[in-house]
Amino acid sequence: MIKKAVIPAAGFGTRFLPATKAQPKEMLPIIDTPVIQYVVQEAVDSGIEDILIITGRGKRSIEDHFDKNFELESRIIEKEEEALYTQIRHIEDMANIHYIRQKELNGLGDAISYAKDHCAGEPFAVLLGDTIIDSVIPVTQQMIDVYNQFQQTVIAVETVPRDKVSRYGIVGGEKVSDTIMKLDQLIEKPSIQEAPSNLAIAGRYILTPQIFDALEKTARGKGNEIQLTDALRILQKQESLYSITIEGKRYDIGNKLDYIKTTIEYALKRDEFKKPLSDFIKDIASKI
Ligand code: G1P
Repeated sequence: MIKKAVIPAAGFGTRFLPATKAQPKEMLPIIDTPVIQYVVQEAVDSGIEDILIITGRGKRSIEDHFDKNFELESRIIEKEEEALYTQIRHIEDMANIHYIRQKELNGLGDAISYAKDHCAGEPFAVLLGDTIIDSVIPVTQQMIDVYNQFQQTVIAVETVPRDKVSRYGIVGGEKVSDTIMKLDQLIEKPSIQEAPSNLAIAGRYILTPQIFDALEKTARGKGNEIQLTDALRILQKQESLYSITIEGKRYDIGNKLDYIKTTIEYALKRDEFKKPLSDFIKDIASKI
């Protein structure tokens, strides 16, 4: 049973400057909803109600977003805007959200080690706070299903073009089924020559508590940071690790072009925007 999720959201967001100079990249909106709300929703839709968000300096607006705002609520009630009221209340009631601050930005692996006390002794999901995945079955749920089968670490992966492997953690292993692999290689941001495949870690993990010991043994790696991928490689020597090729479309919001595409695709799914936005896109496309 996976009951807890950890959402690392402490990073600087340097790829999205200047927008992220004074606001967290996780709070960038896709239309009207901050990215991190989609991430929390994925965890909730996968049956998880206890969420630990790893924050850091300058990330307070994340806490405010999921908190109650009495003044705003009473203003909305006065105006009798029922739909909006329901929407706002939904955010506050989504899950039990806890926060811990990563004191220094020493990498994703270091961020996860802050979850040690909260997740002591039980497996937990990790969802990167700047990545949303659009899918019929929530990706975390897809992974929980694999965890329930093997009771071991599960890593979400997706195929990326070979020339992009150096942007990701890359895995290699033996096929167990069409979508599942037993892993024997994990390399953080390898060169094309080093990469064992073009299967990239997609920002979702189910980790066993043994990860915390592995993290303690993990030396600084790529970018002089404690990398989660390196800790997983240590763990792979002691226990089996599985990957699942996700069914869904991943959007990396830290990347500006991906952000623009995500906004357009999500807007096209909304009834209120579908027609006017398609007309607009067709019109500008015809002029390019
Ligand atoms: C992190 C992980 C990497 C993974 C990626 C997915 O890298 O370290 O293994 O492939 O997320 O988005 P980052 O993008 O934080 O550099």
